[in-house]
Order: sequence, then structure tokens, then C-alpha cells
Amino acid sequence: MSKTVLVSGGAGFIGSHVTVGLSQAGYDVVIADNMSNCDETNYKGVCAILGKQLPFVKMDFCDAAAVDALFNKYRIDAVIHFAAYKAVGESVAEPLKYYKNNLGSFLNVLEASRAHGTHVLFSSSATVYGEPEKTPVTEESPRQEATSPYGNTKQMCEDFLRDCVRAYGIHGIALRYFNPIGAHPSALIGELPRGVPNNLVPYITQTAAGKRECLSIFGNDYPTEDGTCLRDYIDIVDLAKAHVCAVTRMLEDKMDEPYEIFNIGTGRPVSVLELVKAFEKVNGLKLNYKIAPRRAGDVTAIWADPTLAEKKLGWKATRSVEDTLASAWAWEKHIAGKN
Ligand code: UFG
Repeated sequence: MSKTVLVSGGAGFIGSHVTVGLSQAGYDVVIADNMSNCDETNYKGVCAILGKQLPFVKMDFCDAAAVDALFNKYRIDAVIHFAAYKAVGESVAEPLKYYKNNLGSFLNVLEASRAHGTHVLFSSSATVYGEPEKTPVTEESPRQEATSPYGNTKQMCEDFLRDCVRAYGIHGIALRYFNPIGAHPSALIGELPRGVPNNLVPYITQTAAGKRECLSIFGNDYPTEDGTCLRDYIDIVDLAKAHVCAVTRMLEDKMDEPYEIFNIGTGRPVSVLELVKAFEKVNGLKLNYKIAPRRAGDVTAIWADPTLAEKKLGWKATRSVEDTLASAWAWEKHIAGKN
């Protein structure tokens, strides 16, 4: 009998790609989302890609009774928790909003998981490493004090999961994502930022599409080769596959420890300027951009050592940054065509 995976935040950017990956790998998937930061585009795209309707529950994970009812209705073997606010700047301005939502919802997931013996995969972030002393970072690299409430919620949720695994006999995995970008090759699901995008790739594609006038490159005086920041841009479909590997590892009892952490990145640093130039080249267009002052809170350089994920999850990034940037542009054109 196939196993059932609950994807909280399954209508969002990462959740929708993970849902497709899980379903294609043979899992039954239940999507739950409060739609606070997305519309139905990705849910409809997921169903179109898979050629079937997946169960969808509109609910808020801060509502403990609703979470309890969901776990009682479906026999859930594992939950992947994405449902959270994710704007770094907003979290600085409104920390309580972030603490209440991101911590409260995860506590409810953990409570229900304890009651039902459900395994938990948490979507963490490379932000937990702060400005690393050494690059690339391994899972053993020290976590640094968070520079935003958003980052703090990632660290706290990792700790909540570790402690609950120890106490309640469930299994847990935290995946620390680097910079997820791109879209599904079908261009039916992708990132749908509300308002002005904070992240680089949606800003690039919106500029190319004429929705934004000019991309600002935040700083070219960093101590890197071309002066712009270095990041590890991980393709969203590759990222989704890492979740399938991690869920399978949990459900097939293949974990070495009941709580494990994996970096999910490519291991290749790419500068902001390199990314912009790669986007121009692969899509055959010129981007309007300018050099602007540094953005507060940005780290100079961070990229993953993904060795552990390869060794233990059997997972490795495969899609080139060019293919990923082509998919991001295809997605932008797809949504522009709908508006
Ligand atoms: N950048 C620009 N111009 C833009 C947007 C971004 O030059 O308009 C630069 C940034 O300065 C940075 C790089 O592009 O050097 C990547 O920026 P993103 O905002 O795309 O990504 P970050 O590395 O800042 O963000 C990531 C994750 C967040 C996480 C954050 C923590 O996407 O979820 O790290 O620092 F919270």
C-alpha cells in the first residue's frame, strides 16, 4: 500500500514542486495550505502536470483543532512542513507575526505528529549558518546567531524537531536549502512573488518581462572576484527530488540517526553578476541592470558542501544553472501570458 505524505504549504513555490516529485515517485499526497501567500495557480498546475486531482485542504496550521482533524482524517505517514512566512525584511519589522505563525504552526504539526507517530521533514535554510567563517559549509559548520526573526524561526524549528524526535520516537529530517530558483520544465508551476520580489531571480525575470524597470545589483565591492556576492543556486526540481529521497529514507527506516540534517545545494558558488550574464546568454536577451549600494544583512559568500546528501540520500543536483534560468524565464512568460 502506498504511503501518504502531507505537504503543508503545498500550493507554494517549493511545496508544489515537491508535491509533483512525491506523486511521481508513487506517494499519495495531501496538500494543505491557507493560501495566505499564493493563489490557486500552482495547485492547478500540479494537477495538470500529474493529470489528476490531489486532495487539497484549505486550512491554517496555526489552528490546532484543524491540524488535529486533518491528521485524524488522513492516515499520514510523513509530513513535510513548508507553511511559513518567508520575507526576511518583513520579519525584522514584524517579529511577532513571524514567531506566532512560523513557530505556532510547526508546534501544532509536531503535536499531531507525536500523537500519530508521523515522521517530520522540516524545510530549513542555509540562513542558519549566517556569515560562515569557512566555505563551503558542511552540516557541521557552526550555526550563527540569526540576523532576522525569520532566520531565528528556522533555527528554533530545527531545535523543536530535534527535541521532539528525541522524546517521542518519531523520525525527523531538516533540509537546509541554499538558494532555490527556477521552475518546472512544463512551466505550469513556479514562483509567484507578491508585490516587488525580494529575491534575485524573480527580480531578474520580472525586469526582463518589463514589469520592473531595472535590476539593482546590491553591491560590487565585496571581497569576491567580481565584487558581487556568491551564492549556491539550487534548481527547484532538483530540490524537490531531495525531499523525495529524504522522505523515503525516513519511511523505509534507513536513517543512521533518528534526527538528521542535510545541506541541499549544488556545491558551486555563482556570483550575482555571473547569474545575470548567464540569464542573458541562455535566454538571448539584455537585462537592464545597475550597481546599487549593498543590501543590509547580506552575507558575502555562502555555498554548500553537499557531500553528505550525496552519500546518505543518494541525491545530487543535476540541472545546470543555464537550464534552470531558462525554466525561470519560461515560467515568467507563462504567467505574463495569463495576466
Ligand atoms: N540581489 C540583488 N538584487 C536583487 C535581489 C538580490 O543584487 O534585487 C542579490 C543579493 O544581494 C544576494 C543575491 O542576490 O547577494 C541573492 O539574494 P536573494 O534575495 O535571492 O537570496 P538570499 O541569499 O538573500 O536569500 C536566501 C534565501 C532566503 C533566506 C536568506 C537568508 O532565499 O530565504 O538567504 O539570508 F532567508
